[in-house]
Amino acid sequence: MGTLAQFINGLLQPVGIELVRLPRRQVLPAELPDASLYTGPENYHRLFRPWLGGEFDRWFTPAVSDNTLLSRQKLYFLLRMVEQTLGVPGDLFEAGAGSGGSGRLMLEVLRAHGSPKALWLLDTFEGYQKIDPAKDGVHVKVNDCKCRSFEEVGRLVQNDTNAVHLVQGLIPGTLAQVTTREIAFAHIDVNLHEPTKAALEFALERLSRGGVVVFDDYNWPATFGARQAIDEVCARHRLPVICLPESTQAFVVKP
Ligand SMILES: C[S@@+](CC[C@H](N)C(=O)[O-])C[C@H]1O[C@@H](n2cnc3c(N)ncnc32)[C@H](O)[C@@H]1O
Repeated sequence: MGTLAQFINGLLQPVGIELVRLPRRQVLPAELPDASLYTGPENYHRLFRPWLGGEFDRWFTPAVSDNTLLSRQKLYFLLRMVEQTLGVPGDLFEAGAGSGGSGRLMLEVLRAHGSPKALWLLDTFEGYQKIDPAKDGVHVKVNDCKCRSFEEVGRLVQNDTNAVHLVQGLIPGTLAQVTTREIAFAHIDVNLHEPTKAALEFALERLSRGGVVVFDDYNWPATFGARQAIDEVCARHRLPVICLPESTQAFVVKP
């Protein structure tokens, strides 16, 4: 919001009026079967958003924030869910490490709590290398979503307490390199249908009781292919997907 809008808001605030910038009108992909359910926020009231508070700066350091596409709201949810599963047996797994910011946050949580869990971070480290236009839509392109290199992410998660396994290449092919038997927490953020489906199948087969999988791309209209994969796999495992209000995230818990 520019300074003029801030000035006008300052004048309007005493009478309870505020200028708010709305997102540009989104064109929904034609393949959405339930397009009417993709709408704007239910209301524009002010809400308590603890993740904006300075106490979270301890977690959202430049090493995290400068290397992630996730907002503070999403990082907050990730942080709290990792904390929730610290007592659950198994490692941490992330499909779609990107520039490594979300992985670095997960590592910081483990280190802060003295947890010996290992972290598995999977990515091509070269952006999208394989797309299925029928499932992913025509708007995504090979090489989109290019983040930092394998070496850069390696440096970001280098540490002397927890094993961090960086697995480079295309999911599903690289899943065979993930040798962990148990997973306590998984973060799936690859945006595309096929790797979402394969990574989720893999994680659920190893997820301990009480374990959680967080999805980053469930509610975007543009990543409907990922939602389809999640719905299909979770229905087979009889796990209800819990969709976060006013977010693109969703999660499942293994009872
Ligand atoms: C949205 S980014 C991940 C963002 C990251 N979690 C963060 O904190 O910013 C999606 C990532 O998925 C990766 N990706 C997409 N398809 C993949 C596949 N089949 N195998 C491995 N990585 C893939 C891309 O390279 C990209 O880095």
